[in-house]
Amino acid sequence: MPKLIVVTREGEERELDGEAGLSVMEVIRDGGIDELLALCGGCCSCATCHVHVDPAFAGDLPPMGADEDDLLDSTGDRDETSRLSCQIPFTDALDGLRVTIAEED
Ligand code: FES
Repeated sequence: MPKLIVVTREGEERELDGEAGLSVMEVIRDGGIDELLALCGGCCSCATCHVHVDPAFAGDLPPMGADEDDLLDSTGDRDETSRLSCQIPFTDALDGLRVTIAEED
């Protein structure tokens, strides 16, 4: 099972087991980290699943869609590592992916 490393807003690092077919957002939520609100449930309309992705994995991620890009523009903590975690399918290729939960807007 691929592992996902999650850094919380308090700086606590957690290692979660990912399940094929889930999004990164779902892996975080199923891992019991409730500070990632993911209010829209993954349909790319809320931006409360915003994370910062370790740049080492940037080339392994699916390209950002226009909707995701627009939503990220509405957040206060956007930078070049920003992604919406519901838009990243978690796969074996992403084993060891490290994401940091973005500041709350
Ligand atoms: S959960 Fe709402 S945009 Fe990702």
